[in-house]
Amino acid sequence: MITVDRLTVSYGAFTAVDDVSFVAQPGRVTGFLGPNGAGKSTTMRVMVGLTPPTSGQVTIGGLRYHDIPNPGRHVGTLLDASAQHVGRTGREILAIAAQTMGLPKTRVDEMLALVGLSDNEAGRRLRNYSLGMKQRLGIAHALLGDPSVLILDEPANGLDPAGIRWMRGLLKGYADRGGTVLLSSHLLHEVEQIADEMILIGHGRIVAQGDRATLLAGASGTPTTLVTSLDNTALGAALTHAGHAVEAAGAGLKVQASPEQVGRAALTAGVVLTDLRSGGAGLEDLFLELTSSTQRDALPNGVPA
Ligand SMILES: Nc1ncnc2c1ncn2[C@@H]1O[C@H](COP(=O)(O)OP(=O)(O)OP(=O)(O)O)[C@@H](O)[C@H]1O
Ligand SMILES: [Mg+2]
Repeated sequence: MITVDRLTVSYGAFTAVDDVSFVAQPGRVTGFLGPNGAGKSTTMRVMVGLTPPTSGQVTIGGLRYHDIPNPGRHVGTLLDASAQHVGRTGREILAIAAQTMGLPKTRVDEMLALVGLSDNEAGRRLRNYSLGMKQRLGIAHALLGDPSVLILDEPANGLDPAGIRWMRGLLKGYADRGGTVLLSSHLLHEVEQIADEMILIGHGRIVAQGDRATLLAGASGTPTTLVTSLDNTALGAALTHAGHAVEAAGAGLKVQASPEQVGRAALTAGVVLTDLRSGGAGLEDLFLELTSSTQRDALPNGVPA
């Protein structure tokens, strides 16, 4: 478990992290989401003792990072995938880390296989690695000591779609086995698909937290639902009759109502649904709204988000 307790980090008069508190639980993937400059990396650097807190503290399993004996065996970190020595090969970087942690050499090959780096790639120097290869090596490095806590700063950066799917499966499996995963991203879609819990940060402050459903429930405005059925005309009429605004969207309908309300209208009308989902835009709108004071780029009027 990672516990962030009233953490503040100031650089002179500038407060990068402002009274932040949250918990990342074992068995859960916690997404740390916020726009560029929100304070995600700074918070994560405090977690692993690289940046001193101005006030407050972070503990992992009840201990501060520096007080954890052989921390690599308990906490796996990926902070800056290019922070390694560029003249070393991927295999050397893992071998040195394994030696430091007192792990058998076989662990290095296991991790290279796990992250999909071939023998040939593992023998190249880091300076010749592609962004995605660096990221895979960073994940191998984080997992090397078989830790129970993972702290990953923008782990999906540079991964191709297959790599992102692979990482999602890897981290979900890791959490299912009881591990604690905290991962940051500035991309909602990335986090939404993998995180059980989300912590939204903007301008150094936590602006919302909870699971997807809780966050959406707290969002202002009417929820939207996308629905497709065997008889959209009849369903559309039933929804309009129930007082919900309906418009055509692709092969189905976009409705200003919750999935439950749409389901009820369909039940009443006796229409078979073939697809029903909560409109993803709701969460994106919420994210932009909550972090709007820190958005660099205001959306021009009339341009849909
Ligand atoms: N050593 C430092 N000195 C001064 N300001 C700093 C320092 N480190 C970070 N900051 C500032 O703190 C703020 C938060 O930075 P941080 O790197 O934590 O953001 P982030 O949420 O990780 O953003 P991104 O999505 O771009 O990675 C930024 O305004 C940054 O310029
Ligand atoms: Mg960052």
